[in-house]
Amino acid sequence: MISQEDLFKKIIAHSKEYGFIFQSSEIYDGLSAVYDYGQNGVELKNNIRKYWWDAMTRLNENIVGIDAAIFMHPKTWEASGHVSAFNDPLIDNKDSKKRYRADVLIEEYLEKIEGKIQKEIDKAANRFGDAFNEKQFRETNQRVLTNQQKIDETKARFIKALEDNDLAELKKIIEDAEIACPISGSKDWTDVRQFNLMFSTQLGSISEEANTIYLRPETAQGIFVNYLNVQKTGRMKIPFGIAQVGKAFRNEIVARQFIFRMREFEQMEMQFFVKPGTEMEWYNYWKEKRLKWHKSLGMGNEKYRFHDHDKLAHYANAAADIEFLFPMGFREVEGIHSRTDFDLGNHEKVSGKKIQYFDTEENKNYTPYVVETSIGLDRMFLSVVSNAYNEETVENTGDQRIVMKIPPVLAPVKLAVFPLTKKDGLPEKAREIMDTLKFDFNCQYEEKDTIGRRYRRQDAIGTPFCITVDHQTLDDNTVTIRYRDTMEQERVAIDKLGSIMEEKVSMKKLLKEL
Ligand code: GAP
Repeated sequence: MISQEDLFKKIIAHSKEYGFIFQSSEIYDGLSAVYDYGQNGVELKNNIRKYWWDAMTRLNENIVGIDAAIFMHPKTWEASGHVSAFNDPLIDNKDSKKRYRADVLIEEYLEKIEGKIQKEIDKAANRFGDAFNEKQFRETNQRVLTNQQKIDETKARFIKALEDNDLAELKKIIEDAEIACPISGSKDWTDVRQFNLMFSTQLGSISEEANTIYLRPETAQGIFVNYLNVQKTGRMKIPFGIAQVGKAFRNEIVARQFIFRMREFEQMEMQFFVKPGTEMEWYNYWKEKRLKWHKSLGMGNEKYRFHDHDKLAHYANAAADIEFLFPMGFREVEGIHSRTDFDLGNHEKVSGKKIQYFDTEENKNYTPYVVETSIGLDRMFLSVVSNAYNEETVENTGDQRIVMKIPPVLAPVKLAVFPLTKKDGLPEKAREIMDTLKFDFNCQYEEKDTIGRRYRRQDAIGTPFCITVDHQTLDDNTVTIRYRDTMEQERVAIDKLGSIMEEKVSMKKLLKEL
């Protein structure tokens, strides 16, 4: 069995080899935690973005989209709390000189102990078979009880330290837990200090008295500052939402795990403005709605779970993550946050402009509350490619194939058209088919190498359908269609291809089921 770590390495190598993701500026040895999307990656990314955008803006009459600028007035980030509170607690190991996020070190420690408990449980489950009672085992096994106590105590201290912003206590937890640097093995740590994650730059030339501005760390603020514009020009009535897709930037310290945590990334966010007091109802509504969107892609319902936050961000009164089972375990792919009137209220204070809604039913003004759904496009991309990667042995031939079982609706190329040979008018016939289908589906034409090799290349990029044009095609206008996942082949009439494709890769069908 391949380890999860090796699997992840293979996914990264495959993503590069087949034009999904390249390291940024690779010819200069790359730029840490920054990535470029290649010819197949960009198609997949566009498809994910479209599926999200259409689900938000077309399926909900009361949600509209905007596209705000990345640069914003610096006061935005004072009002939003990012200047004072968008920090990570950092700690350095004095021997390796490596820098870590103190909270991540503690979380990893907790996960390790959790792993030890799970091992005991798995062992006992094996030993006792059907008679095994996990609850009873957890309540009585001494090793499990000791470890669980360690988890509970450390977690309680950790949550309190984060809430109180107590950096000395964070260090003390690391010391008490005897957490060692993974590189040097040493437990000699510096004090913990706060580090702001925003990138800053200068607007205007120095001579014109340049102003420090920030690259936005979330797209949400572009929506908040446009709340009045959209509400008034769109004559929007509460509850209503504003959706946006765009780049965000964070100077992440623990920037690893490929495109999971990047310094430049893309967010797909929707702020839903509601009447104060109804926010928990909408929060639960959006939690379920968003989970349904994820599950609709058919990547396996068991691969998703909610994680309700213990520690809330500076703007939230309730928050949950939708986690996906990545090769490195369950991790956040999307956050749903109840942000109260924190953002609009603060923008009102800092800008001095009235940002309120006049509710005609209630006959009064109020500052709307906000429920936000925020998903990382790149992280969603990673969930799709890591879930899609499959190594298989082909039954009859014993050949190995790597097949990307990407949900067909998201696949970069929907169908590939192959003439069996390069002569006898087959290429012309194949091109004719391409020319009718290419307006609706992203198609690829391939005539080089054996059909088997062409199949392998298309499997590796996740193309759901390959069409082969042979001599019989010239006689009866039929082709073979070969299915990526089952490798089954079927003879079909050319004029049926459009409807077959539509049925299998149509976003419309998926959207209708949401
Ligand atoms: N507006 C709320 C907000 O930004 P967040 O939990 O910080 O909330 C939302 O981010 C989503 O953005 C995350 O669930 C994740 O998918 C994505 N994300 C956050 N930081 C990221 C990073 N450094 N690299 C890639 N994706 C990231």
